[in-house]
This record gives sequence, C-alpha cells and structure tokens, in this order.
Amino acid sequence: MKFFADTSDLDAIKDLADCGMLDGVTTNPSIIAKSGKEFIPLIKEICQICDGPVSAEVASTDFEIMMKEGEKLAKIADNIAVKVPLTEAGLKVCKSLSDNGTMVNVTLCFSPMQALLAAKAGASFISPFVGRLDDIGQDGMDLIADILTIYDNYPQYDTEVLVASIRHPEHILQSARLGADVVTCPPEVIKKLYKHPLTDKGLADFVEDWKKTGQSIL
Ligand code: E4P
Repeated sequence: MKFFADTSDLDAIKDLADCGMLDGVTTNPSIIAKSGKEFIPLIKEICQICDGPVSAEVASTDFEIMMKEGEKLAKIADNIAVKVPLTEAGLKVCKSLSDNGTMVNVTLCFSPMQALLAAKAGASFISPFVGRLDDIGQDGMDLIADILTIYDNYPQYDTEVLVASIRHPEHILQSARLGADVVTCPPEVIKKLYKHPLTDKGLADFVEDWKKTGQSIL
C-alpha cells in the first residue's frame, strides 16, 4: 500500500521521504491556505522532494477555468496529479486531461457510484473521504470496501483507490486489510504507526542492560 502525505509542510514531507514512507503528496485549497505560502512555488518545491504523484487542486468550479488551471498545474512537473472535484464539470476536466496523459485525482468522493463515474472518466486516483463520513455517523470504511469491490468487478479501469480524510491509524489498518491502493495521511498519523509501548519498554530494557556490559560497539 502506498503512503501519500496529506500536507504541504516541506519539513514533514522530507522527514517521511528520509524514512522511506513517502510515495506521494496530496494538497487541497484548505491545506494551501493554512500554509500561508504561494501555491505554485510551493507545489514546485514539493515536486522537487517527492518523485511520486503530487496532487495540486484546481480552484474554480467552472469547466473552462478549471481546464486552464489544470493545464497550468500539469506543466509544473511530470509527477503532478491535477485534483478536481467530483462534479459534472470536474469529471469533464478529468476526461479531457486524462486523455492527454495527465494524471487526475478526483476528490470529494462520498459514494460508490461517484467512484465508478471517476473511473469511467479516466481518473488515475479516486479520493473517498472516510473521516468526513465518520463525522456524520456513517462508516467511511464501508465506502472503501464498496469501491474496491466495484473496481475489482471491472478490471478495465485502472483508477487507484486513494483513501483520504484519514484521522487515525485504524483507518490505515483497515485500508491495508481491504487492499486499498493508497492512503493519504497527515504526517502525524503516519508517525503514530511507528509507536508501540512494548517497543519503547523493550528498547529501554536493552539500553539499560547494554550499559551493564560496559562495552562499546564503536
Ligand atoms: C485528500 O486529498 C484531502 O486533502 C484530505 O484527505 C481531506 O482531509 P480532511 O477531511 O481531514 O480535511
């Protein structure tokens, strides 16, 4: 399963890359607004750190303007995935950009049928938002299971299921159990995966016992 970082924080992205935990990056307008930085130069910097797909989202909801934005974003680097909303106009942009060889990530997916439409429009990635469904009392992971079943039924579509709006490690565990292609996570959620109290306790014991030997490896 691929790990994408759902952030524009360059230090966090570098950190994950250094650990071998970075297969791609996703951003959205809220993430960019939070960064307080200029969008295009920031995406350029991210593309220099990350070889995998870097999602950059269009800002308009109008087809013609989204097309222009998407074409501009696609020129930033070869690994850009233009992110478009799951609307009729967004799917039209998806079809057009995909036909021209640009990766497209269709975002704000909340139903299995929306995911099927994105696959038919040639999306490279579909982004179902599990956390936001959990927030309204639905089980976000049920949506992932449904989409994976539907996509498996139609192997002619090669759209990858990119589990988004991840809030905690359990979402990642369930995504892996279901066989999702990608999870995009805030870096702090990926970091939680490293931790286990028995690892900490075991390491503390080893450090203490090693001191007793009075030896040094170096
Ligand atoms: C995905 O591409 C989105 O950027 C993101 O996962 C949304 O997460 P949120 O629901 O925590 O804002």
